[in-house]
Amino acid sequence: MTRLRGKRALPLSRVYRVLEPGPVVLLTTAQKGRANVMTMSWHTMMEFEPPLVGCIVSNRNYSFEALRRTKECVINIPTAQLAKKVVACGNASGRKLDKFAAFGLTPAPASRVAPPLVAECYASLECKVVDARLVERYNFFILRVVKAWIDPSATRPRTLHHRGLGEFMIAGRTLRLASQMK
Ligand SMILES: Cc1cc2nc3c(=O)[nH]c(=O)nc-3n(C[C@H](O)[C@H](O)[C@H](O)COP(=O)(O)O)c2cc1C
Repeated sequence: MTRLRGKRALPLSRVYRVLEPGPVVLLTTAQKGRANVMTMSWHTMMEFEPPLVGCIVSNRNYSFEALRRTKECVINIPTAQLAKKVVACGNASGRKLDKFAAFGLTPAPASRVAPPLVAECYASLECKVVDARLVERYNFFILRVVKAWIDPSATRPRTLHHRGLGEFMIAGRTLRLASQMK
């Protein structure tokens, strides 16, 4: 076996920094007539159609109970313009704070679920929890997207991708290559 040259061991606590895909999203929930928004980057596509998305919402977050109880949320995808607000929503809890008002985000009514869209985001996915079997063990929710919205003018959205420790990459150049994926 060849010795790894020029590489060092990556602490296991830092593994997420190389694998986290992004884009960072804003997850909205609603409970007791009050909407909330939290930042989320641990999510993954699971099926093309109907679109299924898996995501981790920690049980330490206020959003967790809302999502578990109501089984509804909206995944809103921001661009780099919203970076500061995105980080603010990830560093404050909606338990006592109205983050929409505090950070200048606009809630807009969704069509199929109670939580609002975030108007400033270029895309929003209205979702329902379809499988909660891994919630107890991993805080992992499986969501089905039931309605999706996109700003048609956002052809090359400069999305945010979390690299940990306060660093984000901004989506850049586009390559067009033949691919077996849809
Ligand atoms: C860039 C970034 C990514 C985050 N990703 C997640 C995530 O995937 N899952 C999660 O549970 N919390 C994540 N968080 C933390 C929550 O956004 C944070 O705990 C937030 O304050 C929870 O808000 P809430 O208590 O109003 O639900 C992230 C925070 C940041 C800044």
